[in-house]
Amino acid sequence: MKKAIYPGSFDPLTLGHMDVITRAAGMFDHIIVSVLNNNEKSPLFSVEERVTILKEETRQLPNVTVDSFSGLLINYAQKKDVHVIIRGLRAITDFEYELQMAQTNRILSNGKVDTVFLTTSLEYAYLSSSSVRQIASFDGDISMCVPPIVAGAVYRKYGLRQQDIE
Ligand code: PNS
Repeated sequence: MKKAIYPGSFDPLTLGHMDVITRAAGMFDHIIVSVLNNNEKSPLFSVEERVTILKEETRQLPNVTVDSFSGLLINYAQKKDVHVIIRGLRAITDFEYELQMAQTNRILSNGKVDTVFLTTSLEYAYLSSSSVRQIASFDGDISMCVPPIVAGAVYRKYGLRQQDIE
């Protein structure tokens, strides 16, 4: 059974993430989408909220499960007996960070865990969770960036109603 973990912050989940999840689900028998529980950050959504949103948005994908993890990704992967990590690559600006992470994870796992990169579809190449947060915080339209449920949830976090957005 070919399993893979797609880890991330997903704060919030974007259409770019959904694109990667959907494509990875077509390549592997089982994808575990796992939300990093990072005590150092003050996120927009709690880990529980992000897990709930991911579960709702991946309901139609039977081979996708949603989980969370804390600490080193490689320890989590080994606990789950998974040897492949999925990451999306948008542009060259992602490359250095992603390469460093992939190589570190490979070394930490004694070569047992590899990272597979999916280049994001062009229509989502510009998208990031941080730009979604910034646009929403200034009352901008994020409907082309995130699934509808997420858009409503993000606006509520900023005290806005979706219908107030132009
Ligand atoms: O969505 P993000 O924030 O780009 O995801 C980053 C993530 C969660 C994949 C990365 O920060 C991570 O794996 N953190 C866990 C800590 C870890 O294992 N670090 C060592 C790799 S350098």
